[in-house]
Amino acid sequence: MSLTPPTSKTSGDKFGSRVGFILAAAGSAVGLGNIWRFPYSAAENGGAAFVLLYLGCVVIIGVPVLLAELSMGRASGKNAVGAFEALDPEGSRRWRWVGGLGVVTGFAILSFYSVVAGWTLSYLGRALTGAFGEPLSAAQSGALFESVIGSPVESVLMAGGFLLLTAAVVRGGVSGGIERASKVLMPAFFVMLVVLAVRAVTLPGGAAGVRYLFEPDFSALTATSVMSAMGQALFSLSLGMGGMITYGAYLQKHERLGTAGVAVALFDTGVAIIAGLMVFPTLFAVGVDPGKGGPGLVFVAMPTIFDQLPAGQAFGVAFFALLVVAAWTSTISLLEVVVAYLVGERGWKRETAVWGATAGCFALAVPSALSQGAVPALGEGALGKSFLDLMSILFGNVALTVGALAITVFVGWRWGARKALDEMNGLPLGAAWVVAVKVVCPLATAGVMIYILATGNFF
Ligand code: TRP
Repeated sequence: MSLTPPTSKTSGDKFGSRVGFILAAAGSAVGLGNIWRFPYSAAENGGAAFVLLYLGCVVIIGVPVLLAELSMGRASGKNAVGAFEALDPEGSRRWRWVGGLGVVTGFAILSFYSVVAGWTLSYLGRALTGAFGEPLSAAQSGALFESVIGSPVESVLMAGGFLLLTAAVVRGGVSGGIERASKVLMPAFFVMLVVLAVRAVTLPGGAAGVRYLFEPDFSALTATSVMSAMGQALFSLSLGMGGMITYGAYLQKHERLGTAGVAVALFDTGVAIIAGLMVFPTLFAVGVDPGKGGPGLVFVAMPTIFDQLPAGQAFGVAFFALLVVAAWTSTISLLEVVVAYLVGERGWKRETAVWGATAGCFALAVPSALSQGAVPALGEGALGKSFLDLMSILFGNVALTVGALAITVFVGWRWGARKALDEMNGLPLGAAWVVAVKVVCPLATAGVMIYILATGNFF
């Protein structure tokens, strides 16, 4: 691994440099949300029109919430729960529940996220052993996906394995674990992503995929598309659960939050677009309709094409390695939120917190892993959704929206937008940020909650 200065693993542990912070925070943001969820959400909502909507949500809601979280973290130097008490003008404990909800949400997201991350490990293993070297029909690929996610042993073991990989980094602390891993993983990720996207765009027939991503058809949009776009913006930027409060606390005082935050948002959004440029042209080149892929899109559709590409096995290995690395830097941030809380508020030793949280999370991952075919009762619980889908809707969408609402109300109206601005020491368009955090974000997130409650329509 790269050279890093000697570090202490005590509470004063911080990111060693701005680049280190940006890579770690971008690593949190860039994940399965960008490469797995973004392409199929865009495809389900008609492609380019959804992409524009998503970009709008990133600018109007994502960046303001990101800056609100980072300033809370850095000003307080605390974990997601402690920050709400430390910044309360009366020192009241009344807002701590927002951070508490965030910790629970992070724990819950980590549990189902590591199941999907486990699938990426399974697929990487198959790509390495040449399983995609033979022509694979869409039906065969679908059957393979079902057998992988429906296998009780493989899916549980892979989720557990992924949690162990995550714990191994987080136990090393902020600069010696998270930052050090991010500095290796993120550049590797970016190189693989760009190589794969260039390959995809230059495939014969790939141009249709580029048009699909950039030529909007607004008639495909519905009210639900707007909800999905906002949910996607929050999820993709790791917002609404105190993840960026936690990372902000590790950022040194002299760094400018505006620059760092905008860099992270640009990185994340750029990666989502480049991931679209990797996935859609590849699908169009071999005549697969992306609209019908759903959550299986990258797992089912992509493996059908590897054998048709020059150096297809290398392409397949790189593609799934990319997914593994993207997921890994994200699970690290999810676990860190829980660990920072246990250490900061409960006085646990870091090592105990890491293994305790990992074990608890594994227990909650098991039903998600088993809900994809292994145990039919978990496959269609309430509302005909699987346990994993329910976790994803409840925590990956609803709880993040509630969290973003509460965080912006707290920063805008309780702690005070002025104080947050001071913490950022100089933010271009600061006045626009104040309006966003006090008015636009609370109204937009509250609107989404009211829509959900009124229609029962969960994105
Ligand atoms: N942003 C990550 C992704 O797009 C997932 C993630 C990591 C996350 N940490 C988070 C989502 C905190 C919400 C909150 O895959």
